[in-house]
Amino acid sequence: MTLSDIDVRSDQAARGHSSVTEWVAEVAKVTQPDSVVWIDGSRAEQDALIKGMVTAGTLLQINPDHRPYSFVARSHPDDVARVESRTFICSTDEADAGPTNNWVDPGAMRATLEPLFAGSMRGRTMYVAPFSMGPIGSPLARIGVQITDSPYVVVSTGVMTRMGAAALAEIRPDTEWVRCVHSVGAPIAPGEADVPWPCNDVKYISHFPETREIWSFGSAYGGNAILAKKAFALRIASVVARDEGWLAEHMLLIKVTNPAGRAFHVAAAFPSACGKTNFAMLQPTIPGWAVETIGDDIAWLAPDADGRLRAINPEAGFFGVAPGTGPTTNKAALDALWGNTIFTNVAVRDDGDVWWEGLTDRAPDHLIDWTGQDWTPASGRPAAHPNSRFTVGAAQAPTISDDWDDPRGVVIDAIIFGGRRSAGVPLVAEARDWEHGVLMGAMVSSERTAAAEGTIGELRRDPFAMLPFCGYNMADYWTHWLDVGRTLKKFAEPPKIFQVNWFRKDADGRFLWPGFGDNARVLAWILDRVDGRAAAVESPVGWLPAPDALDLAGLDLDDAALEQLFEIDPASW
Ligand code: GTP
Ligand code: SPV
Ligand code: MN
Repeated sequence: MTLSDIDVRSDQAARGHSSVTEWVAEVAKVTQPDSVVWIDGSRAEQDALIKGMVTAGTLLQINPDHRPYSFVARSHPDDVARVESRTFICSTDEADAGPTNNWVDPGAMRATLEPLFAGSMRGRTMYVAPFSMGPIGSPLARIGVQITDSPYVVVSTGVMTRMGAAALAEIRPDTEWVRCVHSVGAPIAPGEADVPWPCNDVKYISHFPETREIWSFGSAYGGNAILAKKAFALRIASVVARDEGWLAEHMLLIKVTNPAGRAFHVAAAFPSACGKTNFAMLQPTIPGWAVETIGDDIAWLAPDADGRLRAINPEAGFFGVAPGTGPTTNKAALDALWGNTIFTNVAVRDDGDVWWEGLTDRAPDHLIDWTGQDWTPASGRPAAHPNSRFTVGAAQAPTISDDWDDPRGVVIDAIIFGGRRSAGVPLVAEARDWEHGVLMGAMVSSERTAAAEGTIGELRRDPFAMLPFCGYNMADYWTHWLDVGRTLKKFAEPPKIFQVNWFRKDADGRFLWPGFGDNARVLAWILDRVDGRAAAVESPVGWLPAPDALDLAGLDLDDAALEQLFEIDPASW
């Protein structure tokens, strides 16, 4: 098939502004796909993509008696998480990327990528998937278009964003939209058979903040490939937000109602696999409090005309960590997974349902593990990959809030920062003011998880939980947070800022704090502080709950454990 055979231009009127078709033609010329398919976001189109992937062996259908319309994908064993070492910020000036990002000169990166993308889609279909981050038409929403040669990425993007014709129609001549190019980097030679999870050993997740472009090569997994998520909604969006005076953050969003019926909105940033999804779907163990979900991973926050900080969840679905999700830890998430879910790298039971560590107390006697091999409890390895995930529409969460897709966003009352710290950091502390809160955010550090490559458990600095996601110089980002505080203060007191740590351990390595639903006890103190009703005592790291201010009724927590949870060692600080 020659290039002129590739239909990229017909029916242009229905496909948005010509800037999109011109760009699609340029990318097709380089990547040489067999065909180009424009994604309209319809159910029929999704069905056809899924059927194709089942036939190709990319997806395995779960027994529909257990979960209708649900599937399992098994990735290549070397393509299981974000690759931070292969993630690049290609700003013209190295100083704009800053000391925490991998910087490559944009010209040099283009020269590196060109031969990789040349012919990279041969034998494959190139999909053009327009999407909106945020409710279509919201003043806070932004449009992107992802080109990809992976149907798995298209279907995932369909769950995670508002994808299709309506998003494309938002692109008018003056619309700034983000160009996202993705290839698994595995062209198929004539006569050659495809593999279930095509990818390439060579990986580049490259961002060009000045031209608002993303070029991703070699991986089909999560944030490496679903470019709407970390690459656009955090790395590129953080740069746009800096330029325009708002914030793009690695934050969950919740609505919380107290026993008196007052509703609050809270945004919280924890590093990857440190409990955002759990906190977003929290089921309080204390009476009278209710938590509803707005988002579990990304929030865009902007001062409104009245100086209030408003936030939206730019996503439309959850790409959540499966292991550790169980009936006692996150029942709401489990209930959301009743059907219409794509699981990646979980184990499969003999009855055709899914399983992962933490789903049940006792593992089944036999499973097919995430690599497709037989597994028994004696195998001595996890059945599900520690970074195995579920992809499910946000509306399926039983805890989803009525205002989760309000185009105006919700007004934020409190901001929380947290990390996974087995020692040193107290259960909760309140910042003295916005500036001190920015310091708290800047000082976030956390023990590494399976969400990215690296040594699990190793402590690292992760300012604002944004280390892998800030698209510009981290020091400028801190300055920007201070600037946003100044803007808010022209009108009123900005939201109070807090830090939390659910992960402190005792000498035997056991968690001191029960966590999960009991985190509502900490949330209650935080919001009672916002309400001006809870007592606090000063400490060197901020305000701590006064003795008895934390509701611990019914909790099996002795005084020694409580003391340890709040212990502050000046030397370690
Ligand atoms: P990303 O999607 O990677 O950004 O992660 P996330 O922050 O949404 O992580 P998630 O909520 O999925 O939690 C990951 C792991 O943390 C799971 O294994 C949970 O069981 C565990 N976890 C969550 N909350 C708590 C808690 O309060 N205490 C303890 N001990 N573990 C928790
Ligand atoms: C994270 O790692 O913070 C995630 C998963 O939310 S991914 O989308 O793969 O980045
Ligand atoms: Mn995340």
